[in-house]
Amino acid sequence: MSILDIRVLGDPLLRQATTPVTGVTDELRRLIADMFDTMHHARGIGLAAPQVGRTERIAIVEVDDERLVMINPEIVKQEGRAKAEEGCLSIPDIYADVERSKSMVVRARDERFEAYEIEATDLVARCIQHEIDHLDGKLFVDYLSVLKRTAALAKWKLEQGKYPGHIRRVSLETPEELSEHEHLNEEL
Ligand code: NI
Repeated sequence: MSILDIRVLGDPLLRQATTPVTGVTDELRRLIADMFDTMHHARGIGLAAPQVGRTERIAIVEVDDERLVMINPEIVKQEGRAKAEEGCLSIPDIYADVERSKSMVVRARDERFEAYEIEATDLVARCIQHEIDHLDGKLFVDYLSVLKRTAALAKWKLEQGKYPGHIRRVSLETPEELSEHEHLNEEL
């Protein structure tokens, strides 16, 4: 397995819609394993293919003991609303409250390309919605009010110089640096 570079806000790939996957190859299985490796090193709980420079409709989520590989995911049902603070591995150090469905049912395929449906609530549901948004070129800052989005983007403007070429090199981050980020477990 290897750790992949993460694309950050400003990379046009994060704004593109992804392409449905027609079958799982060894190369895609390797990509999925690398995505888990990358997400673990970055202390994230979710990651989508565009964040690592890929255009396939693939995302992963890992919250506590819930580990999901979602190929071609689609939301088939959603219920209730809930607001909570969110971050994103592609917009480091920016956090904001986002309102999403409280519970939902997602239909997807796993790494063997077998179809499944799962019902999720709270953090897992939030994470799945965040990752599916990535697959549609959407980011959590898009949900903010003009005022809050302007403030978040102004803060990001000060941060983005740390990521030349819109690349976040996860492997170069030291544990010391990581421990300074108090919200890291909430980046998706
Ligand atoms: Ni994200």
